[in-house]
Amino acid sequence: MGQLFDHKEIFAFGSGKGGVGKSFLATNVALVLGRKGRKVLLVDADLGGANLHTCLGIPAPEANLSDFIHHNRPIQDTIIRTPFENVWLISGGQDILGIANPKHTQKMRLLKALQEVDVEVVLLDLGAGTGHNTLDFFLVADKGVMVVMPEPTSVENAYRFIKSALYRRLIVLASDPAVRDLVEKASDRRNDAGIRTPAELVEQVVKMDPTTGQMLRDSLKQFRPRIVLNQVRSLADIRIGFAMQAACQKYFGLEVDFVGYLENDDQVWRSIRTRQPLAAMGGGKLFRSFETIAFNLLSNQQLKPE
Ligand SMILES: Nc1ncnc2c1ncn2[C@@H]1O[C@H](COP(=O)(O)OP(=O)(O)OP(=O)(O)O)[C@@H](O)[C@H]1O
Ligand SMILES: [Mg+2]
Repeated sequence: MGQLFDHKEIFAFGSGKGGVGKSFLATNVALVLGRKGRKVLLVDADLGGANLHTCLGIPAPEANLSDFIHHNRPIQDTIIRTPFENVWLISGGQDILGIANPKHTQKMRLLKALQEVDVEVVLLDLGAGTGHNTLDFFLVADKGVMVVMPEPTSVENAYRFIKSALYRRLIVLASDPAVRDLVEKASDRRNDAGIRTPAELVEQVVKMDPTTGQMLRDSLKQFRPRIVLNQVRSLADIRIGFAMQAACQKYFGLEVDFVGYLENDDQVWRSIRTRQPLAAMGGGKLFRSFETIAFNLLSNQQLKPE
């Protein structure tokens, strides 16, 4: 992977549904990259549900994100070394009420600070769902990775997540109140403006205000979420990744990269119970899958249908 790091990259791991494996995936991708000699910073941005330290098998550190957000401590003071080669951690704040809802300026200050930390990759582990904080972190990252399980509830919530992220992206960009109103309206799928897809919304905006419309159109083109399927049990499960890709293209006009999948494996809960991250052992079939996902994320590649 030597040639792939010409600048720092920030990845965010999100999901529509909770408990699908975001923290597990982020931790193990970090360890795989660390073993390959890359400097990685894991950031527990699951505000209100922080548990990345447990995935790493370490006690909750004293220093954490809330020191930076609420007490203006330098970001360097919140970073701790983990027992794993080249992997550092900013643990999640434990003062749940205080940190759960940072202001926009606080989020931007965090992002700026993360861009200045001396590592090659930053991995943001987000909370589940479509709250504004989660969507904002997902959108500002260089690459947003959505973790999905191959079951109807998770897939349904994943589409909702993508759609919410898309509309949030357009709302943040649109400064004209009339355009913002239209975006808000369109995000309700029963809207009376007859807008059914983000592509139709953009076309309406083009008619109202061509410059803004073009900006939104470009923004849609640049939004390229990644999908990882977790806990797959069959070939049919894996095909769900490709089917989701096709559906996003058809209904949202959106390119989505299916970057990899992880099999359902009893080793996972065993590793979590014993607090030993899987990738720390450096072998096994899931290790290969973490490597594939890490490689595809860094090199902008994806799986090919069989
Ligand atoms: N590939 C897998 N095989 C078997 N079990 C798995 C696998 N991946 C995850 N799990 C199980 O799912 C649980 C939830 O994983 P994890 O905590 O990473 O999810 P999450 O998406 O971060 O949850 P939350 O939304 O609460 O933050 C794990 O504790 C583990 O037991
Ligand atoms: Mg989690």
